[in-house]
Amino acid sequence: MISTLKIHHIGYLVKKIEKAQSQFLTLGYQVVSKICRDEYRKVDILFMEKDGYRIELVSPYSEDSVVYGLMSRYKNSPYHICYETDDLETTAAELCSDGFTAIDEATPAPAIKGRRVQFLMGRYSGMIELLEN
Ligand code: NI
Repeated sequence: MISTLKIHHIGYLVKKIEKAQSQFLTLGYQVVSKICRDEYRKVDILFMEKDGYRIELVSPYSEDSVVYGLMSRYKNSPYHICYETDDLETTAAELCSDGFTAIDEATPAPAIKGRRVQFLMGRYSGMIELLEN
């Protein structure tokens, strides 16, 4: 086990971010960020929270977004869990030696103050995101 991982958010793919925000407000979530455009991944991102749970609404604005292809499969649905780590490279290397595969390079996340993130795929656990502290 990688002991230093701490859950930061659950990534939630949505087709229409304003309409999704409205429905999550109905469910009692609070908005905790502004809608932020991530030019690296061509997605709009909004963070909301409820009961200590943080969700990240992710909505591609372009057909060449890295997550655009996921829309047809997932529609509106959670699709990754993000974990904070003190050392992105070491954690990614440890996970990759234990069955995970990196699916992109570490890049800054504009919606999270430019902190670096990297996505990995686990054959049996699905997609995860690592977020550098
Ligand atoms: Ni995320």
